[in-house]
Amino acid sequence: MKKLFSYLWPSTRRFPSEINGTLEVTYVNGKKVLDTENANYSYGSLQKILEIGLTKVDLKCVDNLLLLGLGGGSIIQSLRETFEYQKNITAVEIDPAIIKLAKDEFGITESEKLQVIEDDAFKFVKTSKEKFDLVIIDLFIDTNVPPIFYEKEFCENISKLLQKNGSIIFNVGMKTEKDAKTIETLTFNFGCGFKFQFYPKVNGTNTLLIGEKSAS
Ligand SMILES: C[S@@+](CC[C@H](N)C(=O)[O-])C[C@H]1O[C@@H](n2cnc3c(N)ncnc32)[C@H](O)[C@@H]1O
Repeated sequence: MKKLFSYLWPSTRRFPSEINGTLEVTYVNGKKVLDTENANYSYGSLQKILEIGLTKVDLKCVDNLLLLGLGGGSIIQSLRETFEYQKNITAVEIDPAIIKLAKDEFGITESEKLQVIEDDAFKFVKTSKEKFDLVIIDLFIDTNVPPIFYEKEFCENISKLLQKNGSIIFNVGMKTEKDAKTIETLTFNFGCGFKFQFYPKVNGTNTLLIGEKSAS
């Protein structure tokens, strides 16, 4: 019934978070989405943007995937249901309120093939010894990517975690006037061992950076 009414009147429930401010779960047109005050986090336009990114990489070569920024877990749903990716996913998320919402509202629960780690992504990539074939970087606080994730130390640590020929999908953000500069900084910080393609205004808004680490 709630789903039916949502086509007429979207209904929103609000949840406080010390890290992300007020989180909103809205039932709209029969679908639940997760938003912050100014941004869609999951199951809306953000999910479409990352899905477009996933079409640019070869998931058949991916055995171990790292997702930085769990949010409501919409890209996990896409990976499992749309892209039929059934191998391992490790998701790192700093906000316990978000991890709880992902579980209670969107059914994202840990399993043998899904580890959800409550940690700061910057710290995680610095200390993890595991290797990944694909890293999806989707780290926002409201509309902003914390600037530390554009810096050399983070980029170098991501590179260390990647297998040869491994890929990254980096949701760089939506400040279009600054995107050109950000892309330049990022490609420099990742270094010459990468081949990059970037896609501005994906789904009308965000810039995606897709990178592949060379085999040598
Ligand atoms: C846009 S949402 C991610 C959406 C998610 N990828 C999906 O598919 O639904 C951005 C997430 O990044 C998380 N985040 C921001 N800074 C972080 C950090 N330093 N470490 C880990 N997660 C962080 C936020 O708490 C938020 O859940």
